[in-house]
Amino acid sequence: MKEAKGNLFPIFDDILQKEDKEKLLQQHAKVIWMTGLSGSGKTTIAKGVERHLHTQGILNQLLDGDNIRVGISNNLTFSTEDRAENIRRISEVSKLFMNCGVVTLNCFVSPTIEIRNIAKQIIGAENFIEVYINASVDTCEERDVKGLYQKARKGEIKDFTGISAPFEAPKSPEIEINTAQLSIDESVQKVLDYILPIIKNK
Ligand code: ADX
Repeated sequence: MKEAKGNLFPIFDDILQKEDKEKLLQQHAKVIWMTGLSGSGKTTIAKGVERHLHTQGILNQLLDGDNIRVGISNNLTFSTEDRAENIRRISEVSKLFMNCGVVTLNCFVSPTIEIRNIAKQIIGAENFIEVYINASVDTCEERDVKGLYQKARKGEIKDFTGISAPFEAPKSPEIEINTAQLSIDESVQKVLDYILPIIKNK
Protein backbone atom coordinates (compact mmCIF):
# COMPACT_ATOMS: atom_id res chain seq x y z
CA MET A 1 0.00 0.00 0.00
CA LYS A 2 1.71 3.24 -1.12
CA GLU A 3 0.61 6.39 0.66
CA ALA A 4 0.64 9.88 -0.93
CA LYS A 5 2.62 12.13 1.38
CA GLY A 6 1.48 15.30 3.13
CA ASN A 7 -2.31 14.92 2.91
CA LEU A 8 -4.64 15.24 5.90
CA PHE A 9 -6.60 12.29 4.56
CA PRO A 10 -3.94 10.22 2.89
CA ILE A 11 -4.92 8.83 -0.50
CA PHE A 12 -3.71 5.32 -1.06
CA ASP A 13 -3.03 4.24 -4.59
CA ASP A 14 -4.92 0.98 -4.16
CA ILE A 15 -8.54 0.60 -3.12
CA LEU A 16 -9.75 -1.39 -0.16
CA GLN A 17 -10.26 -5.06 -0.92
CA LYS A 18 -12.78 -7.73 0.15
CA GLU A 19 -10.25 -8.92 2.75
CA ASP A 20 -10.07 -5.44 4.31
CA LYS A 21 -13.88 -5.33 4.68
CA GLU A 22 -13.95 -8.89 6.01
CA LYS A 23 -11.35 -7.95 8.60
CA LEU A 24 -13.46 -5.02 9.70
CA LEU A 25 -16.57 -7.21 10.04
CA GLN A 26 -14.62 -10.21 11.35
CA GLN A 27 -16.32 -12.61 8.99
CA HIS A 28 -15.76 -14.29 5.64
CA ALA A 29 -18.17 -13.26 2.91
CA LYS A 30 -19.78 -15.93 0.73
CA VAL A 31 -22.85 -16.18 -1.46
CA ILE A 32 -25.22 -18.88 -0.25
CA TRP A 33 -27.22 -19.73 -3.35
CA MET A 34 -30.51 -21.53 -2.69
CA THR A 35 -32.15 -23.09 -5.71
CA GLY A 36 -35.43 -25.00 -5.86
CA LEU A 37 -39.01 -24.85 -7.04
CA SER A 38 -41.43 -22.10 -6.07
CA GLY A 39 -42.79 -23.09 -2.67
CA SER A 40 -39.91 -25.45 -1.86
CA GLY A 41 -39.00 -23.40 1.21
CA LYS A 42 -36.00 -21.34 0.09
CA THR A 43 -37.01 -18.03 1.65
CA THR A 44 -38.46 -19.64 4.79
CA ILE A 45 -35.17 -21.39 5.48
CA ALA A 46 -33.10 -18.34 4.53
CA LYS A 47 -35.10 -16.19 6.98
CA GLY A 48 -34.20 -18.58 9.79
CA VAL A 49 -30.56 -18.53 8.74
CA GLU A 50 -30.62 -14.73 8.41
CA ARG A 51 -31.86 -14.28 11.97
CA HIS A 52 -29.42 -16.73 13.46
CA LEU A 53 -26.43 -15.18 11.67
CA HIS A 54 -27.58 -11.77 12.85
CA THR A 55 -27.66 -12.86 16.49
CA GLN A 56 -24.17 -14.28 15.98
CA GLY A 57 -22.96 -10.88 14.78
CA ILE A 58 -22.61 -11.92 11.15
CA LEU A 59 -23.79 -9.22 8.76
CA ASN A 60 -25.85 -10.75 5.99
CA GLN A 61 -28.39 -9.82 3.33
CA LEU A 62 -31.27 -11.95 2.11
CA LEU A 63 -32.10 -11.58 -1.57
CA ASP A 64 -35.26 -13.08 -3.04
CA GLY A 65 -38.11 -12.39 -5.43
CA ASP A 66 -39.63 -9.97 -2.94
CA ASN A 67 -36.73 -7.54 -3.03
CA ILE A 68 -35.29 -8.27 -6.49
CA ARG A 69 -38.20 -8.95 -8.85
CA VAL A 70 -40.11 -5.91 -7.58
CA GLY A 71 -37.09 -3.64 -7.94
CA ILE A 72 -33.94 -4.17 -9.96
CA SER A 73 -35.59 -6.89 -12.10
CA ASN A 74 -39.09 -5.39 -12.36
CA ASN A 75 -38.89 -5.25 -16.16
CA LEU A 76 -38.23 -8.98 -16.53
CA THR A 77 -40.57 -11.88 -17.32
CA PHE A 78 -40.05 -15.60 -16.72
CA SER A 79 -38.88 -16.37 -20.26
CA THR A 80 -35.57 -18.24 -20.52
CA GLU A 81 -33.75 -15.07 -21.60
CA ASP A 82 -35.23 -12.92 -18.85
CA ARG A 83 -34.50 -15.49 -16.16
CA ALA A 84 -30.86 -15.52 -17.31
CA GLU A 85 -30.77 -11.72 -17.13
CA ASN A 86 -32.43 -11.83 -13.70
CA ILE A 87 -29.76 -14.22 -12.43
CA ARG A 88 -26.97 -12.13 -13.99
CA ARG A 89 -28.18 -9.01 -12.19
CA ILE A 90 -28.61 -10.86 -8.90
CA SER A 91 -25.12 -12.29 -9.22
CA GLU A 92 -23.58 -8.87 -9.84
CA VAL A 93 -25.50 -7.40 -6.88
CA SER A 94 -24.41 -10.31 -4.67
CA LYS A 95 -20.82 -9.76 -5.73
CA LEU A 96 -21.00 -6.14 -4.61
CA PHE A 97 -22.31 -7.19 -1.20
CA MET A 98 -19.72 -9.94 -0.97
CA ASN A 99 -16.85 -7.63 -1.84
CA CYS A 100 -18.09 -5.42 0.97
CA GLY A 101 -17.72 -8.36 3.36
CA VAL A 102 -21.41 -9.17 3.60
CA VAL A 103 -22.75 -12.73 3.40
CA THR A 104 -25.71 -12.97 1.00
CA LEU A 105 -28.50 -15.52 1.20
CA ASN A 106 -29.93 -15.84 -2.30
CA CYS A 107 -33.31 -17.50 -2.79
CA PHE A 108 -34.04 -17.92 -6.47
CA VAL A 109 -35.64 -20.68 -8.50
CA SER A 110 -32.67 -20.36 -10.91
CA PRO A 111 -34.03 -23.40 -12.73
CA THR A 112 -31.22 -24.59 -14.99
CA ILE A 113 -27.66 -25.77 -14.58
CA GLU A 114 -26.62 -23.22 -17.20
CA ILE A 115 -28.20 -20.31 -15.35
CA ARG A 116 -26.57 -21.33 -12.04
CA ASN A 117 -23.24 -21.68 -13.84
CA ILE A 118 -23.57 -18.05 -14.93
CA ALA A 119 -24.04 -17.11 -11.28
CA LYS A 120 -21.10 -19.24 -10.18
CA GLN A 121 -18.88 -17.70 -12.83
CA ILE A 122 -19.77 -14.11 -11.91
CA ILE A 123 -19.45 -14.71 -8.17
CA GLY A 124 -16.44 -17.03 -8.39
CA ALA A 125 -16.57 -20.75 -7.62
CA GLU A 126 -14.63 -20.31 -4.35
CA ASN A 127 -17.29 -17.98 -2.97
CA PHE A 128 -20.38 -19.76 -4.28
CA ILE A 129 -22.14 -22.22 -1.98
CA GLU A 130 -24.96 -24.03 -3.74
CA VAL A 131 -27.89 -25.23 -1.65
CA TYR A 132 -30.53 -27.39 -3.27
CA ILE A 133 -33.86 -26.97 -1.53
CA ASN A 134 -35.39 -30.18 -2.74
CA ALA A 135 -39.15 -30.58 -2.74
CA SER A 136 -41.04 -32.29 -5.54
CA VAL A 137 -43.58 -30.57 -7.76
CA ASP A 138 -46.28 -32.61 -6.00
CA THR A 139 -45.20 -31.37 -2.57
CA CYS A 140 -44.93 -27.73 -3.69
CA GLU A 141 -48.23 -27.96 -5.51
CA GLU A 142 -49.89 -29.38 -2.43
CA ARG A 143 -48.57 -26.47 -0.37
CA ASP A 144 -49.34 -23.91 -3.08
CA VAL A 145 -48.80 -21.07 -0.61
CA LYS A 146 -49.29 -18.34 -3.21
CA GLY A 147 -51.93 -20.16 -5.31
CA LEU A 148 -49.57 -20.00 -8.28
CA TYR A 149 -49.58 -23.73 -9.09
CA GLN A 150 -53.35 -23.67 -9.45
CA LYS A 151 -53.10 -20.70 -11.79
CA ALA A 152 -50.30 -22.39 -13.75
CA ARG A 153 -52.41 -25.56 -14.14
CA LYS A 154 -55.27 -23.47 -15.49
CA GLY A 155 -52.86 -21.84 -17.94
CA GLU A 156 -53.21 -18.43 -16.32
CA ILE A 157 -49.43 -18.26 -15.73
CA LYS A 158 -47.15 -19.37 -18.53
CA ASP A 159 -43.61 -20.76 -18.28
CA PHE A 160 -44.23 -21.83 -14.70
CA THR A 161 -41.28 -23.79 -13.32
CA GLY A 162 -42.18 -27.44 -12.68
CA ILE A 163 -45.44 -27.20 -14.65
CA SER A 164 -44.76 -25.62 -18.01
CA ALA A 165 -41.05 -24.77 -17.71
CA PRO A 166 -38.17 -27.04 -16.71
CA PHE A 167 -36.30 -27.38 -13.45
CA GLU A 168 -32.92 -29.10 -13.47
CA ALA A 169 -31.72 -30.28 -10.07
CA PRO A 170 -28.11 -29.45 -9.19
CA LYS A 171 -25.74 -32.38 -9.73
CA SER A 172 -23.43 -31.81 -6.77
CA PRO A 173 -24.70 -29.07 -4.46
CA GLU A 174 -22.70 -28.31 -1.32
CA ILE A 175 -25.90 -28.80 0.68
CA GLU A 176 -29.15 -30.59 -0.16
CA ILE A 177 -32.24 -30.24 1.95
CA ASN A 178 -35.38 -32.25 1.46
CA THR A 179 -38.09 -30.06 2.96
CA ALA A 180 -40.69 -32.82 2.79
CA GLN A 181 -38.56 -34.76 5.28
CA LEU A 182 -36.91 -32.11 7.44
CA SER A 183 -38.63 -29.52 9.61
CA ILE A 184 -37.86 -25.83 9.12
CA ASP A 185 -35.66 -25.88 12.23
CA GLU A 186 -33.74 -28.92 11.03
CA SER A 187 -33.30 -27.36 7.58
CA VAL A 188 -31.98 -24.09 9.03
CA GLN A 189 -29.62 -26.06 11.26
CA LYS A 190 -28.30 -28.04 8.31
CA VAL A 191 -27.42 -24.85 6.43
CA LEU A 192 -25.83 -23.32 9.53
CA ASP A 193 -23.77 -26.44 10.24
CA TYR A 194 -22.21 -26.15 6.81
CA ILE A 195 -21.74 -22.39 6.50
CA LEU A 196 -20.81 -21.26 10.03
CA PRO A 197 -17.33 -22.82 10.07
CA ILE A 198 -16.67 -21.14 6.71
CA ILE A 199 -17.98 -17.64 7.38
CA LYS A 200 -17.20 -17.25 11.09
CA ASN A 201 -13.95 -15.54 11.98
CA LYS A 202 -14.35 -14.66 15.62
S1 ADX B 1 -35.94 -17.22 -11.59
O1 ADX B 1 -36.34 -18.39 -12.38
O2 ADX B 1 -35.70 -16.04 -12.41
O3 ADX B 1 -34.82 -17.54 -10.68
P1 ADX B 1 -37.24 -16.04 -9.32
O4 ADX B 1 -36.68 -16.84 -8.21
O5 ADX B 1 -36.68 -14.67 -9.56
O6 ADX B 1 -37.22 -16.92 -10.66
O7 ADX B 1 -38.81 -15.85 -9.09
C1 ADX B 1 -39.59 -16.96 -8.78
C2 ADX B 1 -40.83 -16.56 -8.00
O8 ADX B 1 -41.67 -15.79 -8.82
C3 ADX B 1 -41.61 -17.79 -7.62
O9 ADX B 1 -41.35 -18.18 -6.28
C4 ADX B 1 -43.06 -17.36 -7.78
O10 ADX B 1 -43.53 -16.80 -6.58
C5 ADX B 1 -43.02 -16.27 -8.80
N1 ADX B 1 -43.37 -16.64 -10.20
C6 ADX B 1 -44.25 -15.96 -10.96
N2 ADX B 1 -44.31 -16.49 -12.19
C7 ADX B 1 -43.46 -17.55 -12.21
C8 ADX B 1 -43.10 -18.50 -13.22
N3 ADX B 1 -43.62 -18.47 -14.42
N4 ADX B 1 -42.18 -19.46 -12.91
C9 ADX B 1 -41.66 -19.51 -11.67
N5 ADX B 1 -41.96 -18.63 -10.68
C10 ADX B 1 -42.85 -17.65 -10.94
